[in-house]
This record gives sequence, C-alpha cells and structure tokens, in this order.
Amino acid sequence: MDEPGRDLDPADWDPRDPVFRHDPIPWYGALRRKAPVFGHQDIGIVLSRYEDIDRVLRDRRFGVATPSPWREVLAAGAPPSMVLLSEHSLLFIDPPAHTRVRGLVAQAFTPRRIEGLRPRVEAMIDTILAGIEDRPGFDVLEEIAWPVPILAVTDLLDVPATDQWLLHEWTHAITAVDELPLELDLLPAAGIAADEFLAYAGDLVDERRRTPGDDLISGLLVAEEDGEQLTRDELLAMIVLILLAGHDTTASLISTALWLLLSHPDQAAEVRRDPSVVPNAVEEVLRYLGPLQVASGGGRWPSEPVSIEGTVIEPGTPVRLLLGSANRDPDQYQDPDRFDIHRTPIRHLAFGRGLHVCLGSALGRLEAQVVVPAVLRRFPDPALVDDGPTWRPSFVVRQLATLPVATGRA
Ligand code: HEM
Repeated sequence: MDEPGRDLDPADWDPRDPVFRHDPIPWYGALRRKAPVFGHQDIGIVLSRYEDIDRVLRDRRFGVATPSPWREVLAAGAPPSMVLLSEHSLLFIDPPAHTRVRGLVAQAFTPRRIEGLRPRVEAMIDTILAGIEDRPGFDVLEEIAWPVPILAVTDLLDVPATDQWLLHEWTHAITAVDELPLELDLLPAAGIAADEFLAYAGDLVDERRRTPGDDLISGLLVAEEDGEQLTRDELLAMIVLILLAGHDTTASLISTALWLLLSHPDQAAEVRRDPSVVPNAVEEVLRYLGPLQVASGGGRWPSEPVSIEGTVIEPGTPVRLLLGSANRDPDQYQDPDRFDIHRTPIRHLAFGRGLHVCLGSALGRLEAQVVVPAVLRRFPDPALVDDGPTWRPSFVVRQLATLPVATGRA
C-alpha cells in the first residue's frame, strides 16, 4: 500500500504551515519513512513511528519536567500563575512527586465516580436533543460537543453549570499557548485567564473545606497516603488541569466521531442499529483522528543520552511525540488510512501510555459512547452541510472549527 507523502521532503516541513495543520497525514508519512528521528530547529527532536513513541512513553529515562536552563527562560517570560500551573500540573512533574500526586488523585478519581456520571450524561444529551430536534440544522460543536464535556466536568467537580462558558474561555486562552512552536505572543492573555482560573479554583477549595460534599474536589481534599496530602498549589493545578484536559479533548472526540460517521453512512447506520459496535467505533475514531496529535505540550526530556533508531538524543533536548502519526503507522496497522469501526486490535496511543497515560480516559470514552449513538439515532438522516471539514489551525489539537449539519426537518 502506497503511503501518503511519498514526494515530501522532511527538510521542507514547517509545523506552522496552515496546509500541514489542515492535513498532517502526508507529512507524518514522510517523517516516518524518511526521518523518523527528525531534528527541527524550533521544536526539537520529533518522533513519528509507533514503536519509538511507545518506547519513549514507557522509558523512565524520559521525564516531562522542563529542565534548566529552559525552565528559567520560560519562567522569565511567563506570568506567575502560568508558572504555578506548569510546575505543579501532573502533566509536567516527574517521579517521585508524580507518583505521590497521581496516587492521591486516583483515590478521588475512581471508576465508580466516573461511572456514576453515565446517567447524568444520558440526561444531558437527551435534554439537548429535545431542544434542537425540530430545527432544520444545527452546529454539532456549539450545541453538543462543547456543552456536554464541560457539563460533565462541572458535574464531577460540582461547580455551577452556569460557569461553563467562563471555563471554556479560560481553557482556550491557556491552551492556545501550548502549540508547537509555543505561541509566546499569547502568554499575556493566558496569564490573565490563569489568574482568574486559579482564583476561581481557590474559592472552590475554600468553600469545600468549609462544606465538604460528594464531589471530586472534596475527595481530593481528604485524599491521603502515608500521612501526605496534596499541597494547595497541587490541588489548584489539579482542578485547573481536570477542567482544561477534560473538556476540549472530549469535545474533539465527539465532533470528530460524528463527522467521520456522517462521512461513512454505512458505518453510521451500523452504530445506529447495533449498540455493541459503539465502543470499538469510538476507539477507531481515537486512532484515526485523535484529539491530541502530540503528547504533553512540554515534550519529553532525556535524563541521559538515549539512542533511538541510531540517533543519540542528548539531555536538554526536547523530544516531541507525534501520537497522531503513531496511530497511522503502517508497521502497526494494516491499511492505516482506512476508517473502519470493526478494526481489531486497535491499541492506539491517543491517550498516551506509561506514567502519564490519560487519567480521564474512562470519562472521555463514556461521553463519546453515550452521545454519538444518541445523536445518530435522534436524526436518522442528517447531512453534512460543508463539502470539506474546517479544522482549528492547530498542530497539537485536532478539532473541527465547526460542524454544521442539516437535519432534514423543515
Ligand atoms: C477523548 C478525550 C481525551 C483525550 C484524547 C486525552 C488525551 C490525553 C493524553 C494523550 C494524555 C497524556 C499526555 C502525555 O503523556 O504527554 C492525557 C493526560 C491526562 N488527561 Fe486526558 N484526554 C482526554 C480526556 C480527559 C478527561 C475527560 C480528563 C479529566 C476529566 C483528562 C485528564 C487528564 C489528566 C489529568 C492527564 C495527566 C495525567 C498525568 O500526567 O499523569 N483527560 N490525556
């Protein structure tokens, strides 16, 4: 099978190029085939093969905490609230701190708590669908893919659903910096959002200390292991991370799933008809066009020289892991560019792997598994309005900018 990108030269690859960001697949093919360990002057070493990425994710010689002197350079230009988030977020800390914080968070972030959200997510999507079902058309992002995940995390943390757009705006302002290369011009706006977000999280913590409930924040407050608890900074960074990591990614998954299925009507018909195919269909969407195309914004940093595919990567070099490329690697998947809800085994890297594997994967999956078939069943014959998809112009995040559909109703 011919891989896309055969004519492309990795030396010409520009991660800022809107054409690449619109459709990265041909470039992934060129990188995997011609330069699997590619040094890019602005973003560091880029890995694109499944096997290499899988190995680095599980290799304890690679950490996520930004080392000196990069750390000082970034901190000098960043507002203090952004520094707090980057130094205390689970995503940016290494063992032993990571082991301690993740262990404490896992006590509160239990499968039972996540599963308890299922009826709430079912009720949410029912209410939303009842409100739009008589319309001739609607935008999937506006009406469904953004609201459901944010309502789910507000439920998890027991924060007012009326704050959802505030949280949505803060999230976008903060994550916009986390591009490749970093969007440093957006740091001041991100700093303002991070200040407000941290103050909001601080108020929540104070309130739950006074009046504990059955929510995740109250659970985080009492989590304790070997006499240790989360510090206040860890707690605030965790609340912000859950809100940040937990909604935009799942919004991508739901909207991309609906777009892919509406573009493959025979597979959409199966999802409508047979609930047993839904979990695998969601896994195939995660593989085919996962919400995060690149692992953790800060990259991986080797603590000693490490050889990959014959190239030695030195400490102090950021390593970027192209999860989206790994998931299309022909050495891992037969006919990787075909979308097939019956593909097995899938074992994708869309949630990462190893120490930092996504903490919220069960929630992301649950939401997509509930929402996607519910939408398809409510609208038996919806049509995509645009000829081609419009993606957000990001390298890191794969998300449709809009997804207008016509319902066929007058
Ligand atoms: C479809 C939805 C989601 C996708 C594709 C996704 C993807 C990922 C990936 C790739 C990582 C690992 C990054 C790395 O190793 O560098 C990660 C970590 C994480 N995710 Fe998710 N995520 C999703 C949903 C969620 C949800 C719903 C939550 C919480 C409510 C969440 C919370 C987290 C947290 C806290 C981490 C950091 C874990 C650690 O560093 O130990 N994610 N996610």
